[in-house]
Amino acid sequence: MYQPGVGDALDALDTPAMIVDLTLMDDNIGRLMERFRVRNVRVRPHLKTVKSPELALRLLAAGAVGGCVAKVSEAEVMAEGGIEDLLITTEIVGRPKLARLVDLLRKHSLIKVVVDSVEGARALDAAVGAANLEAKVLLDLNVGQDRCGVTPGEEALELARQIGEMEHLQLIGVQGYEGHLQHIHDPQERQRRCQQAMQTLTGTAEQLRTAGFPIQIVTTGGTGTAEFCADFDGITEVQPGSFVFMDTDYRNALGGVYSNALTVLATVISRPTPNRAIIDAGLKSLSIDSGMAEPKGWEQLAYQPKGDEHGALVWRDEADADQELPLRIGDRVEMIPSHIDTTINLHDTYYAYRDGRIEAIWPISARGKVQ
Ligand SMILES: Cc1ncc(COP(=O)(O)O)c(C=O)c1O
Repeated sequence: MYQPGVGDALDALDTPAMIVDLTLMDDNIGRLMERFRVRNVRVRPHLKTVKSPELALRLLAAGAVGGCVAKVSEAEVMAEGGIEDLLITTEIVGRPKLARLVDLLRKHSLIKVVVDSVEGARALDAAVGAANLEAKVLLDLNVGQDRCGVTPGEEALELARQIGEMEHLQLIGVQGYEGHLQHIHDPQERQRRCQQAMQTLTGTAEQLRTAGFPIQIVTTGGTGTAEFCADFDGITEVQPGSFVFMDTDYRNALGGVYSNALTVLATVISRPTPNRAIIDAGLKSLSIDSGMAEPKGWEQLAYQPKGDEHGALVWRDEADADQELPLRIGDRVEMIPSHIDTTINLHDTYYAYRDGRIEAIWPISARGKVQ
């Protein structure tokens, strides 16, 4: 089977292929780590973005204290890959999932989970108790996203009290993720609303401590807010993920704080008309839930998906429509994804390069791990 290898030029890659500019990626990681090192706040990157233990280990080597994962199946892959200190940031509900979690906890006792209901906590307590184990839990608080999360204040305290009576659960922290604020374009507005959310989160953490709960972890923040969160007293760790690669949606909101380090390399396979070039990257290669991918270095061109396997590049400005597109059959174009997480989940492999040569090939082992 045709297999490009380390040391090959990028030309050796078949397309579509997901390629990573290592210089830009290492710069993103280094920059973010430095920002939190000086603030004395720990970084627990959300590994739902990278979905690769190799990249997670790279983040640990750069100073991360561990990782977040969204799902038990992601935790399985990361734990197997040597990342022990994991926080599963989504509520774990249902017998099959609890059984998988218990299996994981048998071997990886540093894994922590979130709870936001008495029912969820009771089922967890029963499952880990039946295996003679304990689970470290964080209360998941709703700080405004209106996704999961118990209501801060009295309801959170009541849930904590009930958890306190459960024999096999140990309440060690709170999570409050303000996902609804990540992409606010105006930085002042983003900061102001983030501060309100942090007030709620740290206020509840304090109430819990006053009530006698040993809250050690107060975790929050994504790529768009983590720095604002870290400037708030009482936040112990942040969990950004997209900063590693970025995407056009985040770039549009944050500007150039971090660079777009990942692209999908595509080939022009057809030139049916002078003003339309067809590439081999469609909906199965580039997600469109956050808008359209952009061809790197071709600001005057726009991408239109043309089904599962095809995409079109056309003039962005209709006034140019009678002009010939400067692309020929066989040309290669790098597409910058609009949403990095959902695009990565479409691919099997990262091809990481420096100076035009492949330096590493990483399997995306947690691709499709959504359970
Ligand atoms: C709970 C939680 N924490 C952190 C993140 C990381 O956010 P981002 O990838 O925007 O940095 C996410 C992303 O959806 C999340 O769901």
